[in-house]
Amino acid sequence: MKKIAIKGTGSYSPERVVPNSYFEKMIDTSDEWITTRTGIKERRMIEKGQAMSDLATLASASALQMAGFSADQLDLIVIGTSTADMLSPSCGCIVQHRLGAKKAVAFDVNAACPGFIYGLAIAQKFMQDGSYGKALVVGGEIISNRIDYQDRSTCVLFGDGAGAVVLGHSNGNDDGEILGMDIESDGDLWRLIHVPGGGSRIPASHEMIDQGLQYVKMQGNETFKHAVRTLVDSSRKIIAQQGITSDEIDWFIPHQANIRIMDAVAEKLGIPTEKVIITVHKYGNTSAASIPVALDEAVRSGQIRKGDLVLVSSFGAGLTWGAALFRY
Ligand code: UT7
Repeated sequence: MKKIAIKGTGSYSPERVVPNSYFEKMIDTSDEWITTRTGIKERRMIEKGQAMSDLATLASASALQMAGFSADQLDLIVIGTSTADMLSPSCGCIVQHRLGAKKAVAFDVNAACPGFIYGLAIAQKFMQDGSYGKALVVGGEIISNRIDYQDRSTCVLFGDGAGAVVLGHSNGNDDGEILGMDIESDGDLWRLIHVPGGGSRIPASHEMIDQGLQYVKMQGNETFKHAVRTLVDSSRKIIAQQGITSDEIDWFIPHQANIRIMDAVAEKLGIPTEKVIITVHKYGNTSAASIPVALDEAVRSGQIRKGDLVLVSSFGAGLTWGAALFRY
């Protein structure tokens, strides 16, 4: 089986910065509540008219440039998103068109926040037997137009963004390698986070819009408990599978949903705060974008270096969750 390595990373976060004070004017909340309960100070939101493929294409171009690959070398494009430009076709096909990745097969994975990790797992499987040589995996989301700005327990949490990695076959020891992957789902818990309207169960209609069914509905408190449990379980599973100890991990990138979740998970795994990559304060919860954006920023700032052992883990609507361990 061929070894798979991350050859390049990229990300794009929209330029519009939305601080906590934005919500103070709209709903009964405060910068103090949002900061202490979530760790979020600000988030990025798209300008009207921007769509998921716009963000994904920019992030992808940047990852391709770092990898030194051209788009027409790509064999596979997987986009982890639940907020594609349109219900059909996939965002993957639009990104393929925008990049000019003529020979790539392209599709989306709707796995909410762990969509990027699901994408990595799929790409790894496609590439392991050697039939696919180069892949682009993107995690991205535009949630700012899926949130109910009257629902104070959800609207303050989310932001928009996209992150990408380009994968290739590993050339050897110093080229990095994806070592372990775990992806899991529990559909019994689908009600915890869902968007009821706009699909086939409740199609778009004036009535659907009047009832606000196009917006994310989330049981925050209950989700919090499952978040800590799943992030810890998945990470522990990979650590055990790989026969390592948590102190061998150089960097941990948990899903950037809430600083309290991240702290609790890192503590349970025995990973010190200095090794945890944190972007939640500036981007909020960007769902599928949260891990690849944090990864790209850590690589470009020189925090993560060639040879470092990196653990990432995420959870989200479905419920879905997963983790990946790789040597960068
Ligand atoms: O990507 C996966 C997506 N989901 C998540 O990661 C969400 C996980 N959950 C969370 O992050 C937290 O549960 C929240 C941040 C959503 C909520 O924090 P919490 O500490 O669990 O608060 P709570 O829901 O227990 O609410 C405590 C109080 C309530 O008031 P009462 O009933 O005690 O009077 C809420 O109404 O805080 C109130 N509250 C707010 N107050 C000011 C809820 N949202 C706000 C707000 N500003 N924005």
